[in-house]
Amino acid sequence: MCRYSTAMVRLTLTLIYSLLISLEVTKALILPAYNLRSASNHKVMALSGATDGKAVLVSQEQPLSLNVCIRKQSMVRLDDVRFSNYNYSTFFNVTFNSGEWMGTFYVRPGMDWNRFKNTGIFPHRYTLEPGWHVIKIYVMDYFGYTEGIAVDTLQFSVDDPWMDNDILSCKTICTEKNRFPVRSPSSSENALPSGIEQRSFSTKCAEVDNIDIPLYNAHVDSFTITASLPQYKSFSNRREENTTNCPHLSPELWRFDNFNVSSSSAEIINNKGARMSFYSTSSNEVYIIVRFFLEGQKKGSVDAKIGSLLTLHLKTLTAPTMIKLRYKEKWGNLSLPITHNFTHQNLQFTWTIPDFTWTEDSLNYIILTAESENLALLVNHLRLEKRAFKPEKHVTIYKSDDVHIVAVYVEMWWLAPDRMTVYLTNGQTYEDVAYLQIYRPIPWNNGYSQVLVLYQDGNARFIPVTPEGLDWIPFGTSVILGQTYSDSIRPYTSIKQLNIDPERWTMRIFFKDGGSMLMKINSTYSETQAHVSEVFFTRDRYTLPFATVRSMYVSEGNTDVDSVKVDDKETYHIMDQWGYVQGRSFAFYRSCISRHLTLSPDIQIDVFKTKIS
Ligand SMILES: *[C@@H]1O[C@H](CO)[C@@H](O)[C@H](O)[C@H]1NC(C)=O
Ligand SMILES: *[C@@H]1O[C@H](CO)[C@@H](O)[C@H](O)[C@H]1NC(C)=O
Ligand SMILES: *[C@@H]1O[C@H](CO)[C@@H](O)[C@H](O)[C@H]1NC(C)=O
Ligand SMILES: *[C@@H]1O[C@H](CO)[C@@H](O)[C@H](O)[C@H]1NC(C)=O
Ligand SMILES: *[C@@H]1O[C@H](CO)[C@@H](O)[C@H](O)[C@H]1NC(C)=O
Ligand SMILES: *[C@@H]1O[C@H](CO)[C@@H](O)[C@H](O)[C@H]1NC(C)=O
Ligand SMILES: *[C@@H]1O[C@H](CO)[C@@H](O)[C@H](O)[C@H]1NC(C)=O
Repeated sequence: MCRYSTAMVRLTLTLIYSLLISLEVTKALILPAYNLRSASNHKVMALSGATDGKAVLVSQEQPLSLNVCIRKQSMVRLDDVRFSNYNYSTFFNVTFNSGEWMGTFYVRPGMDWNRFKNTGIFPHRYTLEPGWHVIKIYVMDYFGYTEGIAVDTLQFSVDDPWMDNDILSCKTICTEKNRFPVRSPSSSENALPSGIEQRSFSTKCAEVDNIDIPLYNAHVDSFTITASLPQYKSFSNRREENTTNCPHLSPELWRFDNFNVSSSSAEIINNKGARMSFYSTSSNEVYIIVRFFLEGQKKGSVDAKIGSLLTLHLKTLTAPTMIKLRYKEKWGNLSLPITHNFTHQNLQFTWTIPDFTWTEDSLNYIILTAESENLALLVNHLRLEKRAFKPEKHVTIYKSDDVHIVAVYVEMWWLAPDRMTVYLTNGQTYEDVAYLQIYRPIPWNNGYSQVLVLYQDGNARFIPVTPEGLDWIPFGTSVILGQTYSDSIRPYTSIKQLNIDPERWTMRIFFKDGGSMLMKINSTYSETQAHVSEVFFTRDRYTLPFATVRSMYVSEGNTDVDSVKVDDKETYHIMDQWGYVQGRSFAFYRSCISRHLTLSPDIQIDVFKTKIS
């Protein structure tokens, strides 16, 4: 208990603080001295007073050198070194990078390795560039006695609210390119400015598109979307999905575990808000009623559309029991009953409930009626889950030396019954398409590389061609083309028709609301660029966007985008509350190497022609 209350930390600062420091938005960050590298070069001391019980011995022969990383150019101050020493007085100094002096300390004998001391704030602070730095602690042993000091942690403050301990310890690496290529022609100087609006929300699930940034320009005539490999250098092709903290991705809609059914059972509410109540008319009959809400199209979900499976698994029963399921149909009336007899040998049953039964607008319910001569059931679980989707159907609709187009049919499209009709210049027509995949040939393996998928809901996902040496790289940030609808928390447009000229890599997109645009794809060695022109909109151009960026940010290093740079000048953090920002060029990129879809692209949008009609 004495580790913080050590009456006086007997510590002498050899020099007076050179200036009084007050950093504006600082964040206190902790760097442990212990890591696998320092443990391989130093004696590790097991000390209960140390953070995680471990401190690193630093002696004259073995100075301690730690990497310190920061995210963007920031003012960095060392606020504390937490250390202990034993039976000799000791001098030590702390330096940064190529030997910049931070401070020198003299400490008297401590006589207890477990009694940790704090140096307090170091006199010097430095403005550091993003990336990776080195802090070094030297112990000076003038008399040849001291064993050295046991170092626990270093504490920093950095004037960057998005810094975290993983960045500080270089678990997450951040770099910053100075300039982004603004790829549109110089005529963009004459274009009327566009605006981006911050509508993102926070999430803990890496598979949610929580980044929502519409782009507005009432006079837009043509713009480009450019997808290139991330500006950071990483050759890790991580592309697994991460469903931690993503309850909505589970097929289970609700579940109740371990409860008794009898005439005296009380109501149970589960963690997803489903309520189960019991109602009894006689001692050998009990009604089990489960009431629940489901998410549907308004929340961007198919939960309320797709059919489901209701499973009842009993642990024990006293006598054979007949259980009858009825549920609320979409018209509001009760379904006909489906009965199953449960016995000691037959304790589990699954009922199938058809598609389009549930609604997202009102309460849904099921009623189970249990009947038995001697009614007492102990239920293992009662659960409702979505039925499995049938696999998507992929059909090649065009293939040549220059392009390969695949139409994909999805069984339960979230905007059903809306689908796209695809017309090709060769006269062929394909109906009911949910999305298209477009591939271009790549010279180094005689194969094709996917460069674009375009969904019926307007989501367009672009990637540069797969670099030589890899099989494929993942999509990440996407762009919704056209004027979105706002009746859903998931913004969307509705594409009715695509007229595709495959050999010219051109398609005209027709929206359900009457709008249209011409999109030409140019996928080169370094980037895939969509050039969108002849933009025609039928709805209000001032309040509705012409494109919307959707992406993901959970925490630094777990993102599909973390920054947006406007006109190659000002950089904004993707989650900051910057409101509305005007510009002509918007580069959506990551400054920190992401563990999620590491090689998914940076996306730049340039508006280069506007017209006043
Ligand atoms: C310091 O401690 C070491 C053991 O760690 C012991 O051998 C030595 O005699 C001590 N020296 C003094 C001056 O107490
Ligand atoms: C810190 O100590 C080391 C080792 O004694 C010495 O070489 C170095 O010059 C010192 N650095 C500063 C800035 O005092
Ligand atoms: C998955 O996402 C969670 C946040 O929801 C994060 O804590 C975890 O580190 C991620 N896993 C990987 C492997 O990146
Ligand atoms: C169910 O009822 C039995 C008998 O009354 C009781 O022992 C048991 O604890 C109950 N279990 C639950 C989960 O309520
Ligand atoms: C519920 O109402 C619909 C529409 O009126 C009807 O088609 C259906 O048969 C009804 N279901 C039952 C069980 O009566
Ligand atoms: C269940 O048992 C009852 C009588 O015990 C019988 O009338 C009924 O047909 C049985 N139902 C099924 C689905 O087997
Ligand atoms: C495609 O992009 C490349 C590189 O940006 C450019 O040189 C070429 O002219 C473009 N081709 C077309 C048809 O726009």
